[in-house]
Amino acid sequence: MAKNPKQLKIIGLAGSLREKSFNGMLLDAAAGYGGRACIIEIASIQGIPLYNQDVEDAGIPKTVKGLQDRIAEADGLLLVTPEYNHSIPGVFKNAIDWLTRPPEVIDRVFAKLPVALIGTSPGPGGSGMAQLAWLPVLQTLKTQPYFGPMLIIPKAGDLFSKTGKLTDPKTKNQLQGFIHGFCQFVKEHHRD
Ligand SMILES: Cc1cc2nc3c(=O)[nH]c(=O)nc-3n(C[C@H](O)[C@H](O)[C@H](O)COP(=O)(O)O)c2cc1C
Repeated sequence: MAKNPKQLKIIGLAGSLREKSFNGMLLDAAAGYGGRACIIEIASIQGIPLYNQDVEDAGIPKTVKGLQDRIAEADGLLLVTPEYNHSIPGVFKNAIDWLTRPPEVIDRVFAKLPVALIGTSPGPGGSGMAQLAWLPVLQTLKTQPYFGPMLIIPKAGDLFSKTGKLTDPKTKNQLQGFIHGFCQFVKEHHRD
């Protein structure tokens, strides 16, 4: 979607491949809170292969190049992370690792980019440990992480309708507030 010059664009990525991903549903809900001045465009890690230097040597895959370009053109990045074994799920880390190849692209794609983390899980932890595990990665990529109040969402199984809509009023309010705060941050910390 073409954006007007005053409009901010945030790319949203959920770190799960499954169709009924709670984090995918959370990203859908987050996108609904973007609004005209700050649109949240949903992108996907589907189709990104497992990282293998032999594949890289043969040429960066199209899915990777396409996503690198979309992030490079964006004003901000929203990572919606599941939590596996108190850390980052492999498929999500793999996708971000690919986006940093070759290393010369890091400045164009990630440097000074405002980045926010949110996430949910069915258990009591709500993705908090995974969010913390992302911080050294965000630092390595020279991003500007958003350090507003963390949005850690437990009990994902109770929060969404059968059709994948976020229905829990408290979570909706928290998400709306978070997106509002992040949009403000993106505006104030624009990378150019
Ligand atoms: C290998 C594996 C490890 C997991 N470890 C955790 C964990 O440490 N903390 C947690 O809250 N949930 C954990 N879970 C449960 C996930 O939060 C749950 O599968 C969730 O639905 C994944 O996110 P998604 O719905 O977006 O796919 C784990 C799931 C898997 C498959």
